[in-house]
Amino acid sequence: MKKKYVKSLIGIGVNAMNKTVSLISKNFKNLDPKSLQEYLHAGGYLGLEKALASTPAQVIQEVKKSGLQGRGGAAYPTGRKWEQAAAVEGPRKIVICNADEGEPGTFKDRYLLQYDPFKIIEGMTIAAYAVGATEGYIYIREEYKKLQDQMKIVIASALEGGFLGDNILGTGLCFHIKVVSGAGAYVCGENSTLIESIEGKSGRPRIKPPYIKEKGLFGLPTLVNNVETFSVIPVIFEIGAEEYSKYGTEFSKGTKLISLCGNIQYPGTYEIPFGLTLREIIYDIGGGIRDGKKLKFLQLGGASGAILPASKIDIPYTYEDFEGNGLTIGSGAILIADETNKVVDYMKSVQDFFLHESCGKCTPCREGNRQLSKIINRFVSGTASIEDFQTVERFARVMKYCSFCGLGQTAPSALLSAIQHFPDEFYQQIHKVRKIM
Ligand SMILES: Cc1cc2nc3c(=O)[nH]c(=O)nc-3n(C[C@H](O)[C@H](O)[C@H](O)COP(=O)(O)O)c2cc1C
Ligand code: SF4
Repeated sequence: MKKKYVKSLIGIGVNAMNKTVSLISKNFKNLDPKSLQEYLHAGGYLGLEKALASTPAQVIQEVKKSGLQGRGGAAYPTGRKWEQAAAVEGPRKIVICNADEGEPGTFKDRYLLQYDPFKIIEGMTIAAYAVGATEGYIYIREEYKKLQDQMKIVIASALEGGFLGDNILGTGLCFHIKVVSGAGAYVCGENSTLIESIEGKSGRPRIKPPYIKEKGLFGLPTLVNNVETFSVIPVIFEIGAEEYSKYGTEFSKGTKLISLCGNIQYPGTYEIPFGLTLREIIYDIGGGIRDGKKLKFLQLGGASGAILPASKIDIPYTYEDFEGNGLTIGSGAILIADETNKVVDYMKSVQDFFLHESCGKCTPCREGNRQLSKIINRFVSGTASIEDFQTVERFARVMKYCSFCGLGQTAPSALLSAIQHFPDEFYQQIHKVRKIM
C-alpha cells in the first residue's frame, strides 16, 4: 500500500497530529474566497490552463489516471463518467454541480463553497471542456443562502476575468454557469430528482433509462458531479494525476474530505488521505471522545450508512475495506456516539428522518418507512414483540430490492446494522411494559 502524508493541518481540529493533508483544502481560511486575484495568486486556474493545453480526450485520460471516484456518495469513477458524457451526441450539453448536501452529518461541501468557490467553478469548466458542454448549473441547498449569494459574486468575477463566458482565456471555449436554489428535500440530491427540481417540477426521481447522460436537464445530455469531485479536478491538473494518486491506497486514490461530528472533541471538516484507520481519525484527528467518555458506536456515510461498534475502529478508511465490512464511505460523514447514547433511541431519530424525507412515489419506500417507524416506536416504548425482528428484516429486504431510488434502498441499512451489532439493546425492549405490569 503506497501512502503519502503531507504535514499540514486543516479544518478546525487542533490535534490532528499531522495526519490531515491539504490538497483541495489548501486555500481554506487562507484567502478571501470572493477575490479572483487572491485565488490566482494561490495558483488558481493553473489547472484550467494546463487542461486547455491538452485535447478533451487527454483531459479525460488524466482524470481516469488519477483514479478519482465521485465524492457525492456513489463513488462512480469520474473519468469513466466523463468519457461516457463526452461520447453522447447532442445539440447542447450541460454540466451540473450537486451542492445539495442533504445527507445528515455532512458539511464538507459547505466548506468548499464557503472557502474555495473558485476551485469548484474551475473544476466545472474543465469538465465542460472535456465533455463538450456550454451550460452549467450549481444546485445549492436552500439553507446555504449566503453561499448562493457568494457563488453568484464569484461567477460574475470569473466572467469579468475571462475565466467563464464566451471565449474563455482566448481559446474559443464557451461556458456559462447559473446558481439554482434547492428547496430543502433530501431526495433532491439524487441526480434525476435534482434535475426535475431545476426544471421546476416536484422533487421525485425519474425512471432510467433514458439516462441523464443522454437526456438530462431540459432533455439535453447532462453530467452531474458533486462539489468535492469538481474541487479535486483543478488539483489533478495542477500537480498531475500521478502525483495525486500517490495519496491514499491502491484502490482508493487521493484524499477525502470528512465531516466529523457527534460526541467528538474536535468536530469539523478535515482532508485525509485514504488509508488512515477510523481509530486514527477519531483519536489523532478528532481528539477522542468528548468529556473523557467511551466510544460506543459510529455511523458512517450519513443517515443511510451503517452503524459500527467501537470494537471495529481499526478498519482503514478506504472504499475496499469498507465494502468488505458492509460499510460505505458515502458522503464522508462520520458520526460519533459515546457510551451514554441508546442505540434504539438513536435509530428512532434516523427512522424519523427517512419517514419525513420519503417522497412517496413508490410503495416499498413510502409504506416500508412508515412500518419501520411503527416498529421502532414499539422498541422505544418497550412494547415490541419477537416477530418485529423478522418483520424488520422482511421489510428491509423489500425496500432494498424494490424501492425506486437510493433513498428507499438504503433507508433500512442503519437499523439492520444496529440490530446486528447491538441485539441486546433491542431484545431488552421486548414487551418490557407488559413485563413490568
Ligand atoms: C437520496 C439521495 C440523496 C443524494 N444526495 C446527494 C447530495 O446531497 N449531494 C451529492 O453530491 N450527491 C448526492 N446523491 C448522489 C447523487 O445522486 C450522485 O450520485 C452524485 O451527485 C454524483 O456525483 P459524483 O459522481 O461526483 O459523486 C444522492 C443520492 C441519493 C439517492
Ligand atoms: S425510494 Fe422513496 S424517495 Fe425514492 S422514489 Fe421511492 S418513495 Fe420516493
